[in-house]
Amino acid sequence: RQLETESGEVGLDGFDHYMLKEIYEQPESLRNAMRGRLDDQNATAVFGGLNLTPQQLRSVERIILTGCGTSWHSALVGEYLIEELARIPVSVEYASELRYRNPPIENNTLVFGITQSGETADTLAALNETKRKGHRTLAICNVVASSIAQAADGGVYLHAGPEIGVASTKAYTSQCCVLAMLALYFGRMRHLSFEGGQRLIEELRLLPNAVQQALTCNEQVKDVAKKYASANNVLYLGRQYNFPTALEGALKLKEISYIHAEGYPAAEMKHGPIALVDDATPSVFIVPAGGTYDKVMANMEEVKARGGPVIAIASEDDPHVHQIADDVIHVPQVQQFLQPIVTVVPLQLLSYHIALIRGCDVDKPRNLAKSVTVE
Ligand code: G6P
Repeated sequence: RQLETESGEVGLDGFDHYMLKEIYEQPESLRNAMRGRLDDQNATAVFGGLNLTPQQLRSVERIILTGCGTSWHSALVGEYLIEELARIPVSVEYASELRYRNPPIENNTLVFGITQSGETADTLAALNETKRKGHRTLAICNVVASSIAQAADGGVYLHAGPEIGVASTKAYTSQCCVLAMLALYFGRMRHLSFEGGQRLIEELRLLPNAVQQALTCNEQVKDVAKKYASANNVLYLGRQYNFPTALEGALKLKEISYIHAEGYPAAEMKHGPIALVDDATPSVFIVPAGGTYDKVMANMEEVKARGGPVIAIASEDDPHVHQIADDVIHVPQVQQFLQPIVTVVPLQLLSYHIALIRGCDVDKPRNLAKSVTVE
């Protein structure tokens, strides 16, 4: 539960900034996102507010996920989750594009607007436009009774508590968690077996502790931040579920430390970004154990061979990554579908510490607003 001051404001609870406090709240905000939503008896997830019948949900043939900024990144994670676990085709759209793009949308398409604040003008307009055309719209939202929560036909609340820091942290991991539960839910309406559903539930239950453990890297991240705080450019590279993590890590650094950063799928590096690599341009590789581990390691070697400093986010007990990377931050091993929720934690902390060293206002970065209610 959030502690509120007498004036009703959310307090800092001894943290120096809201952003740091919110990063540390993630084990709890994830528990809150899952509370009452994991159904062991049926090996599925339950949601009280979708406002659609099982028949309507069963007939969904396509899903569009839309949002802005960090919420758009969670939509990308959602695409991987829903396509893999529920086998429903998913498209991800920037809300600002979707609202004017007029793409053909088939019948039986479900549109999710993903938004922390529930007030982002482009996301609201994109949902209203698709709703006007007769499609069902749902919101994945943190702020209760916000404009988007009210405009949608139904939805899922994050229950993450107030997020004050402008750069989104706990809302992002909760969005990914809700999308994982939705993937489980849609999967269990289709091909996913009872045992398969049970396994996913077990993994979801381990998540808050894994994030708690990931937070113990804070002191080490501080040292890494000192080393690289004067960089002018940073590359973030990851594949599959950790490609959105690369985008989100780069966005966090841009937002609060004003360092230019680019996120890419690691293999795309050779099609352009590798030209940026030099001894003053660090690359952050997100390389936990999993299907593309060897491939990402090979990309890492290519960067090393060109003299670029490498920071790796790797699984605990990874025996090889030290041989190539200059700095390794270890995170607990979780199943691949939940990795983005764990691997983003050191990246949030890295951007926080670099911003502090550079004297930036982490909670209120220049030129940015917590919710963008104008076009
Ligand atoms: C603003 C914030 C971002 C946020 C984006 C979308 O740009 O600075 O942190 O990701 O809006 O906000 P929403 O509330 O819709 O998730």
